[in-house]
Amino acid sequence: MDAPLDLRGSSEEWMLAGWALLLFVVLTIAARIMTPRTHRIRYGASVIFLIVAALGFVLGEMVSSPGAKSFFAGLAMISYGLCLARLLFLLGFDGIIARNRREPIPRILRDITQGVVFFVAAIFALRAAGVEPGQLLTTSALLTVVAGMALQETLGNLAAGLAMQGERPFEVGDWIEVHGTPSHIGRVREINWRATRLHTLDNVELVVPNGLLAKAMVTNHDRPHGAARRSVYFHVAYSVPPRKVHEIVLPGVREASGVLASPAPSLVTFGFDEAGVSYWLRYHINDLSRRDAIDGGVRDRVWYSLERSGISIAVPGRTISVSEVTPATEQARVTQRLEERVKTIEEIDLFSPLSPDERRQLAEDARAEIFAAGETIIRRGERGDTMYLVKSGEVTVRVDNGSGGEVDAVTLGVGTFFGEMSLLTGDPRRATVVAASSCELLVIGHVAFKKLFVAHPEVAKQISEKVVERDRGDAFSKLSAGTKQETEIAERALIGRIKDFFGI
Ligand code: CMP
Repeated sequence: MDAPLDLRGSSEEWMLAGWALLLFVVLTIAARIMTPRTHRIRYGASVIFLIVAALGFVLGEMVSSPGAKSFFAGLAMISYGLCLARLLFLLGFDGIIARNRREPIPRILRDITQGVVFFVAAIFALRAAGVEPGQLLTTSALLTVVAGMALQETLGNLAAGLAMQGERPFEVGDWIEVHGTPSHIGRVREINWRATRLHTLDNVELVVPNGLLAKAMVTNHDRPHGAARRSVYFHVAYSVPPRKVHEIVLPGVREASGVLASPAPSLVTFGFDEAGVSYWLRYHINDLSRRDAIDGGVRDRVWYSLERSGISIAVPGRTISVSEVTPATEQARVTQRLEERVKTIEEIDLFSPLSPDERRQLAEDARAEIFAAGETIIRRGERGDTMYLVKSGEVTVRVDNGSGGEVDAVTLGVGTFFGEMSLLTGDPRRATVVAASSCELLVIGHVAFKKLFVAHPEVAKQISEKVVERDRGDAFSKLSAGTKQETEIAERALIGRIKDFFGI
């Protein structure tokens, strides 16, 4: 063990104290020059330690009892040791390391380094004062147990803080959500050796002990992209087609304040329940501090867009609609539906030779079918005896690509038809037709066509011309653009097949 330092009344001791004071002044000046202005407030602790050391030294000089002298000498030594440790720490950490780093050093690392520096300094000072630190611990086992138990929670928090520092599930500045009852969401302000401080959406500071944080489930809203997805759910009545809701709602949401353009907002037709069709609106935001305001703005947009289009948001409930169904109202409904079909038939020039009564008859014989985008309407190779007129939306025709697969040949819109080949000749479907968007089609069957051909044989000719003309212009067709004579031969052959098939 080192010999205890004797401070008793010699001029040597006063000289030593002078040197110690000088060292303090030099280190303080150096640290003040090196550290940024904002950190200068941290010198209070070293000054306090110095004052305690000075008091210990002076009192040690004044008292005469050897025991008291050595107590004050020890106090002076330890305080001065801590004072130097603090100054060296500030100089090294804030003045040299922190100064040369771009990002701020996490508070927890700073605190722990400081703790270690103090600990080492205290051991040295104790030894210099003639006390063996190991002895202190071993001689008071009971004290150690009590201290251990008292510090259990604190040490747990410290260990959790260190583990988080290693794993880095979040950084200072990230928006995190700590799940629990209740859950808390906030921006990380500081991670220190005991706790993590969050600035919450309620504009208050929340201190979460590290031990608690280590056990809780934590969502980091800033990872991996810095853009968090938000969801809004709403219902619309069953009578409104989902495509219409999508078209009405999305443009308004895209322009809502705080909603990111990329990833773009999207709407999912989410379910069917007692309130109506439920929709799941998703959009991304990167400013969580405005989360509630942005969500509110988006809901406003949804309401206004729907309201402008005469659509109300549906709520759960029982709607009993009483409407008197009289023969007259029923007849009006049937007539309106028929008029719509007649209009679709009128848009197709194939049926231009038909009289208004014949068109009406064809409309009566037809039926309407609706398809969602992506649904297959007819499949290549299957048998079929129906032809389709596009009333709304679009369809894509997919033909054989020559190597067993299919390729998109053409997209057909309102006023076009497809499926006529199988209907007219009895051949298997030559192509697959898929709804490109949600669409409404008029379906005309074999019987209706037979009636038409009997009354208007020229329609068969017209259809044949159209089909041959389409085949000649089609890059995927086996027929190549030929002479006028070849075209006529092909048309005649087709008319012959149609007549044979229909027995006319
Ligand atoms: P069908 O063969 O009965 O069934 C598939 C339908 O796709 C076919 O009738 C035509 O109506 C249509 N079709 C086939 N090939 C083309 C094409 N190249 N261009 C436009 N429509 C086509």
